[in-house]
Amino acid sequence: MIQLHDKQFVPFISAKEINFAIEKMVAQIEDDFFDETPIFIGVLNGSFMVVSDFLKLYKKPCEVSFIKLASYEGTSSTESVKQLIGLNQDLTGRTVIILEDIIDTGNTLEELKNLFKSQNVKHFKIATLFFKPDAFKKDLKIDYVGIRIPNKFIVGFGLDYDGLGRNLPEVYQLKE
Ligand code: IMP
Ligand code: MG
Repeated sequence: MIQLHDKQFVPFISAKEINFAIEKMVAQIEDDFFDETPIFIGVLNGSFMVVSDFLKLYKKPCEVSFIKLASYEGTSSTESVKQLIGLNQDLTGRTVIILEDIIDTGNTLEELKNLFKSQNVKHFKIATLFFKPDAFKKDLKIDYVGIRIPNKFIVGFGLDYDGLGRNLPEVYQLKE
């Protein structure tokens, strides 16, 4: 068991299981895009570990970049739009594959799809290591999923609880 701030977490998914899930995603994407040079885009901060492990296993030509989503409070109190930070590359005609750590409600996914809509990409695909189907509220397609998990809060492998836990090489779940 581990303690982060005021909460306790118990082991949930081993480093070996994570690696197996990433291997599976790599194999599918290599297969689907064997004649392309995809650009993988990691969504910071959480995705840094999955991007690193994914790319070490991906043996075909590819590029990598990172973006961050900034919440931006608009002039009206209810208006909250997201903005992309770090996308300073022309993606016209490219195969873009977003690498996410986790998809929960799908709000972030929806923002990403909207933000990339104006880029004239050839393919736009979404890959996520973890997915919480019971929390997902959107009618949007997720192209590649590593591991489906119950609707519980997890930390480790890039995911944090209030800043802590990202460095853990395996995944822990909030203790009931
Ligand atoms: P969304 O609800 O799908 O938009 O997910 C938003 C973000 O919430 C993710 O990118 C993560 O940063 C964070 N998140 C969602 N579920 C968890 C979790 O179980 N642990 C840690 N962070 C999470
Ligand atoms: Mg994330």
